[in-house]
Amino acid sequence: MYRTHTCGELTLADLGKDITLCGWVQKSRDLGGMTFIDMRDRYGVTQLAFNADDDEMLRARARELGREYVIQVKGTVIERSSKNLKIPTGEIEIRVADLLVLNAAKLPPFLIEDETDGGDDLRMKYRYLDLRRNPLRNNLMLRHRMAQAVRSYLDGQGFLEVETPVLIKSTPEGARDFVVPSRMNEGQFYALPQSPQTFKQLLMVSGFDRYFQIVKCFRDEDLRADRQPEFTQIDCEMAFVEQEDILNLFEGLIRYLFKTVKDIEIGQLPRMTYADAMRLYGSDKPDTRFGMHFVELNSVLKGAGFPVFDNAELVVGIKAEGCASYTRKQLDALTDFVKRPQIGATGLVYLRVNEDGTLKSSVDKFYNEAQLAAWAEAFDAKSGDLILVMAGDADKTRKQLNELRLEMGSQLGLRDKNKFSALWVIDFPLLEWDEESGRYHAMHHPFTSPKMEDVALLDTAPGEVRANAYDMVINGTEVGGGSIRIFQKDLQQLMFRHLGFSEEEAQAQFGFLMDAFTYGAPPHGGIAFGFDRLASIFAGLDSIRDVIAFPKNNAGRDVMIDSPSPISQEQLDELKISIR
Ligand code: AMO
Repeated sequence: MYRTHTCGELTLADLGKDITLCGWVQKSRDLGGMTFIDMRDRYGVTQLAFNADDDEMLRARARELGREYVIQVKGTVIERSSKNLKIPTGEIEIRVADLLVLNAAKLPPFLIEDETDGGDDLRMKYRYLDLRRNPLRNNLMLRHRMAQAVRSYLDGQGFLEVETPVLIKSTPEGARDFVVPSRMNEGQFYALPQSPQTFKQLLMVSGFDRYFQIVKCFRDEDLRADRQPEFTQIDCEMAFVEQEDILNLFEGLIRYLFKTVKDIEIGQLPRMTYADAMRLYGSDKPDTRFGMHFVELNSVLKGAGFPVFDNAELVVGIKAEGCASYTRKQLDALTDFVKRPQIGATGLVYLRVNEDGTLKSSVDKFYNEAQLAAWAEAFDAKSGDLILVMAGDADKTRKQLNELRLEMGSQLGLRDKNKFSALWVIDFPLLEWDEESGRYHAMHHPFTSPKMEDVALLDTAPGEVRANAYDMVINGTEVGGGSIRIFQKDLQQLMFRHLGFSEEEAQAQFGFLMDAFTYGAPPHGGIAFGFDRLASIFAGLDSIRDVIAFPKNNAGRDVMIDSPSPISQEQLDELKISIR
């Protein structure tokens, strides 16, 4: 038997017991007559003690142990003289009788401590060492607990976990596919699923009624902090449901997760239409941990002779409470922030409501006192507030002001990682105009049902058709999205037509689904949560990388196994692939 206990479980209750432990050497200290070693495993740290009365050979062996050596010790649990009450095992130590080195270790390239000296690249290369550190292990333990809670909740609601294939055919989820060549079918390729969307719909046709899967999805898209090329969804689908049923059931899932995993009651989720989210926050994923919503000012500020406002489609602003004391330098920094190419604004106008109640704006020469007062009044501004205003094309300006709002939220400490604000965004548009291709795209995906009352608009005003589609947003991150699906062949065909597919193209790509709809497809709908995003929000992290055991870097590479990498000529020949 390698061990009788783990390094995290022995306490005063075990005094006098003869035990065997295994683990890694965290650190050792030589204090004259005594040698102490902290030994670590997944469960905790236990102190080993060797003193002057011990066998000299044993002490010498203990002194030779390097960091991260894997050892086994046999000994007796004794009470510590200087206790560490911060850890569960801190009141005892092991008086070691025997020590065996199971494996020596090279000096690790960075400190395996909570605070490490290793840079990102180094830690990615030696990810297996980074994963020995408590913060990362805790993240993966949290993720595990969340996965268990998801399964328990959905099982309790009658959902069946069904696996769907990974080698499939391209699905139009909006990103590029990763493809896999088929040796047995020369010149043909599988695509890795961007999501199991069509399969879960087919399972509804099969009568499974309630399906879920915690499943890997693959998307070849530009990477960001909240995007990985392979990521995990909690993918769900239900038959005989309306949007309301889905919102209620999955709001229940999120409430259950917060309660069981973090002991937080998040209450009922507010719902906001897409139109309101864009109007009030300039984003379809508003961070509602703080207010600072937009106030539109066309009727207040246009027509006073200030050309930037007069020529703008939209003049819109936010109120930063208590920021009237911002210095010139701070205001210039905000202007520079919105002028960065990533944001692309032309400028920023401000109005200060000074402590003495006087008003001072950066465009004073165009506005008299009464007009400035009306401006402040539109925000219900108080002494000490600062109003920041942008103007231009409506859509662009809203997006730019959204960036500024988030920046102000961060600067003012209003985006606390330990505070959680979740909501549903509903009534998304069905279609989205794409400048590049000069046609409409499905905003969610082509299987999303339009609102029946809007179907007539498909021919006259396609951009105004609303979908039965919804996103769940937590702290400004889209953690999940779904929709009620089309389940009749005719409507699905009509949809493909509006998306610019010819009948042949639609049949070639999605004939299997439309055929299935002709064999008794029930009304159905569903949702998929980004599991990595949910876990990173629960863990209070900025990036999803640290809730993934072996993530890719921003170039989509796994630097530990060095992938992607070339394959041999032999493999290429077998696949009949030539590389130019
Ligand atoms: P959608 O494309 O909105 O919907 O994806 C669902 C959720 O998956 C997460 N997500 C990602 N997480 C990490 N890295 C990525 N690259 C990434 N892309 C998406 C997001 C998102 O909300 N089949 C539909 C769901 C449905 O209609 O039921 C779908 O995949 O949190």
